[in-house]
This record gives sequence, structure tokens and C-alpha cells, in this order.
Amino acid sequence: MPVDRGLLKRLGLASPLILAPMASASTPALVAAVANAGGLGSLGTARLAPDEITRAIREFRSLSNQIFNVNLFAPLAVENELAKVENARRLLAPFYRELGLGDPPAVPKPPLFGFEDQLEAVLAERPPIFSFTFNLLPPDAVRRIKATGAYLIGTATTVREARALEAAGVDAIVAQGSEAGGHRGTFMGDFGESQVGLVVLVPAIRRAVSVPVIAAGGIMDVAGVRAALALGADAAQLGTVFLGSPENTAINAPYRATVLDAAEATTVVSRVYSGRYARMIRNRYVAAMLPHMAELPGYPTMGALTQPMIQAAIAQGRGDLVQMLAGQGVARTSAEPAGALVQRLAAELV
Ligand SMILES: Cc1cc2nc3c(=O)[nH]c(=O)nc-3n(C[C@H](O)[C@H](O)[C@H](O)COP(=O)(O)O)c2cc1C
Repeated sequence: MPVDRGLLKRLGLASPLILAPMASASTPALVAAVANAGGLGSLGTARLAPDEITRAIREFRSLSNQIFNVNLFAPLAVENELAKVENARRLLAPFYRELGLGDPPAVPKPPLFGFEDQLEAVLAERPPIFSFTFNLLPPDAVRRIKATGAYLIGTATTVREARALEAAGVDAIVAQGSEAGGHRGTFMGDFGESQVGLVVLVPAIRRAVSVPVIAAGGIMDVAGVRAALALGADAAQLGTVFLGSPENTAINAPYRATVLDAAEATTVVSRVYSGRYARMIRNRYVAAMLPHMAELPGYPTMGALTQPMIQAAIAQGRGDLVQMLAGQGVARTSAEPAGALVQRLAAELV
């Protein structure tokens, strides 16, 4: 069992099991199912508008009275990359044609809301826990979150990032191994060099900081949870294993079918959809775009260019074109209900 550095006690958790926040790939019903089964549920609200964030938190609260986490992407500097936008439009044009769409958008629309608006909506609901990824938070945001009494969790992919997060005042750190599905949390140094496997990352971060450490990446069963705890983590955060849960109605049909039939699927870290590196299933679009990655603009510009394509691909059931974020353990994703999964893992852990 874990050496409890106060995480479970402070959060009142019965078991060291955390549902990873998964923007666009989870629902309040999924989060509530995990929370009601004794795990910690996380609402991945990074892609929601402020009023949608309010609704998601309230929906969760109508389904559960347990403690929960709300997650956002920390703000990033946006670069001006006009030449790369033109390259991306040229590369995307055949996929747009295939889907019966017109040309890719000429100038991607700026988002209608920013991090500050999202944070405002989150803080108004006073969630007990707030977590973030992609960067450090602006110091003022840390101050405001802490002023509400919320427990603050940041994401690190290296020891250097973990130290920076501890110095910035977080209460706990997610150590995101290279196995993890979804976007890389890397915010210092090179993305490739920051792909450290969990077996190396967790003990290294454990030694470097004094706050609790949460292991994330490739944990699909009780053996994985036990391994994470043995490596020095205080809790395990699981994402991919919940992708096929029936409560997870946010997953579109081709995505669900692919993760549930992924016995031999391989995943790759690429930035061909959003512009930011993420681990995803390699489909035809990913394979075609990988050789051109250096020519593509960054996040969020590339995401704005691919969004209409992704929406049309979802509507047309095109698994060869939709984005399917998933970790290296995806072959073990099942359709087991989330609450049953958490209860089974907790029972196996005793
Ligand atoms: C579909 C998907 C979406 C994700 N979205 C987020 C997110 O919005 N915020 C975040 O902090 N992490 C996000 N992650 C990363 C998870 O927090 C976590 O690092 C990862 O799921 C752990 O690895 P696993 O998927 O192998 O269990 C996402 C992961 C997946 C699979």
C-alpha cells in the first residue's frame, strides 16, 4: 500500500485511483461514476466555453456529492506562423475534399474565450481540486485558485518541470510518463527528450520534490497501480482504460470502436491534429501527415485548421480521419462500466 504523504487523507479518498481529466473525451456522468465508486473523478473542461464549464460542474454535482477535480490547459504564448498555415492548408486540402468540404479555413478563427474566462467560470463554482497541464500557471491564477481553498495539482514530464511546479506552489504533481494517452504536459525543453517512461520518471520526481506524486501513463490494471505505488507514487491517474466505459458518451462511434478493438493498434506521439504533441492511435491521416510535421503550425492554430475536418469525419464515421487520443495500453481498454472498474481495482488492491 502507498506511503501516504497526505494526499488520500487530505482529499478524503478511499482508494488511490484517479480518473484522468480528458477534454472532449469524458462526461460528468463518467466522472460521477468514478467518484461514487470511491475514486477521484476529474472533469476535463479545457475545451469548454465558460457557460459549458458551469453546466458540466453542476451536472456532476447533481450526480455525486463526492470530492472532484476540474482541469484546464494553462495558457501558452501563441506564435505567428503564417507560412506554416499555408503549408498546412495545402496538406489538408485533399482530406477536406474527400469529406466533401470546401477549402480549409484561410485564417483560423481565434477562440471565442480564453483561459481567464474559463478560470473565472471554474472558480465561481469553487471546486475542491483544480489541476492543469501544458505549462506553469500565471502566478496571479495560482493566488486566486488557492484563495478559494482549492487543492492545486500541476503536470510534469521531467524532474525539472516537477521542481518548477513545486516552486510555483502546487500541492501535488502528476508525473506523466511517455506511455500516457493525450497531450504531453511538457513545458520546458524538448518534447522528444521529455518522453520519459513511468518507471524512470516516478522515482526521479519522488526524490526531487516533497509534495505528493500522482503517476499517469499506461496504467490499465491493478498490477499497474501497484507498480506505480511501489515506484513511489501516492496515487495512480488512469485515462485510456476509461475510454470505452458506457458512461463515456463523449467518445464518437469510430473512436469507441477503434479503442475497443485495438488488440494490435499502435500509438504515436505527434502534433498533426492540434499542433501540440499528443499520444494518439495511428490512423491513415496520422500516417500521411507524420512526414510533414515540421511544416505544420503549432497549438492552437493547427487545431483550428483541422477542427472542421474532424467534425465532418465524426459525422461520416471516418476512423481513418478522426483524432483518437489514447495511451500505449489501449489494447486493454474495455467496455466495463467505470464504477465497476474502480470498485474492482480498489478491491484487488487491498
Ligand atoms: C483522450 C484523452 C484526453 C486527455 N485530456 C487531458 C486533459 O484535458 N487534461 C489533462 O491534464 N490531461 C489530459 N489527458 C492526459 C491524462 O491526464 C493522463 O496523463 C493520461 O490519460 C494517462 O495515461 P493513460 O491514458 O495511459 O492512462 C488526456 C488523455 C486522454 C487519453
